[in-house]
Amino acid sequence: MTTDSVGIDAIEIRTGKLELDLAETFAPAKDEDPGKYTKGLGLRSSSFPDVYEDIVTMGANAAHRLMERKGLTPADIGRIDVATESAFDNSKPVSTYIAGCLEQVFDEDFHHANKGERKFACISGTQSLDDAYNWIRAGRNRGRAALVIATDTALYARGDAGEATQGAGAVAMLIAEDPSIVELSPEQGIGSADETDFLKPNQQFPSVDGKRSMKVYLARMREAVEDFESVSGDTHPDDFEFIPFHTPFPGMVRKAGLLGYRHIIRGTEIEEELAEEIGHQPHPEESEDDEAYLDAVREYTDALKETDRYREWYSQVIEPTLGISRHVGNWYTGSVHIARAAALKYARENGIDLDGKQLLVGSYGSGAQAEVHAETVVPGWEAEIAQLNIDEQIMNRYDISYEEYEQIHDVHNHDEEADAEPLTAPEGEFVFDGWGRMGERKYTFVE
Ligand code: COA
Repeated sequence: MTTDSVGIDAIEIRTGKLELDLAETFAPAKDEDPGKYTKGLGLRSSSFPDVYEDIVTMGANAAHRLMERKGLTPADIGRIDVATESAFDNSKPVSTYIAGCLEQVFDEDFHHANKGERKFACISGTQSLDDAYNWIRAGRNRGRAALVIATDTALYARGDAGEATQGAGAVAMLIAEDPSIVELSPEQGIGSADETDFLKPNQQFPSVDGKRSMKVYLARMREAVEDFESVSGDTHPDDFEFIPFHTPFPGMVRKAGLLGYRHIIRGTEIEEELAEEIGHQPHPEESEDDEAYLDAVREYTDALKETDRYREWYSQVIEPTLGISRHVGNWYTGSVHIARAAALKYARENGIDLDGKQLLVGSYGSGAQAEVHAETVVPGWEAEIAQLNIDEQIMNRYDISYEEYEQIHDVHNHDEEADAEPLTAPEGEFVFDGWGRMGERKYTFVE
């Protein structure tokens, strides 16, 4: 028997235990205005892994807490899918390392769980959700759930412009029948093209054209929304309580939110009501040529951004999705998933009733692909979201100096032989514990 109701049953978030304050520490060291970070990029700080943390420990620690909290054993898990763009092994998937960690603390093993690793830049976390969803809908799960773990250390070469938008953390999600947080829509939209905006051709740190990546993000997202609408019907701003987007930095979402709003109000009563103030949306046939049309669109968009109607929508539907991201930076594959979690957390903290309400989720991965699908929030979400301890983790991070940042960056740089003392003390968690005889990374659980 398969069920139509498949989605996210539980979420755990694990941040790297170090914090780099972008306005107070990073900007002065780079001789930059702190406003670039706080206002322009919308970021206060980035998370970094301490010397004993990496994508495996963060993923395993998130999954461990999730399984303990839900009273699960390995026999309840039929798949472990890891999404990452920070893998250190081109053959053995990170999910095997994480399963190995978990087997140290559970009596049973994961020998009958299908393990894999998904790669497509930041969108692979959402693709892994998709894989888990399809596996359950196909009836191959034997009543078991899937663990999807999005884990990354988003580090850039020192001196690269991307250094401003780094971050490190993991999101573990349990995908199951009759879920307790959200049901995923079967409808989805894809916008995909061969693009060269961000890549890591056998190198640890990305080659990134950040400005181009922002343009590609918006173009592919628009394509994905149109594709989604072709199967689910036109979207309207009132349809969605929150719209979590992939968030490389909140400033990117500010741009995506504005373009998205312009798109979804087109032809609606909202466009009509706004017309008195800022006119109608331009149409290509009204302009002399493409350039004149694009100028008219830019002018309309700039005016739209300043309207009270747009500002109110943005503050209710988009701003709450950024509540975690602005403190932790880019988590690549996990970014859109902390955006969803931030929105649900905000709703719970502000007494917003979400039962039966819809989210529209917009994921993006460089290279490039966007995906859009809807989610329906189900009763039980509040109790699940109440279990998150991400605020506490964020608050307890060790605030590093610029010199400590340089050391930590070197420790995590695969081409450096750097060594440094940990800045925090591990407790009740998996830690990196050195190298094995075949060059594998080894892990242990510290009580
Ligand atoms: N006060 C307010 N805003 C300020 C400011 C100040 N003092 N100084 C700069 N800003 C604004 C800029 O106007 C810009 O905003 P805009 O894009 O709306 O114009 C923003 O802050 C960033 O400043 P900018 O000078 O463009 O920063 P940068 O050249 O360092 O590049 C990125 C920023 C995001 C392009 C760069 O950090 C990057 O490439 N990051 C990686 C992105 C990535 O990984 N993409 C792939 C995954 S999607």
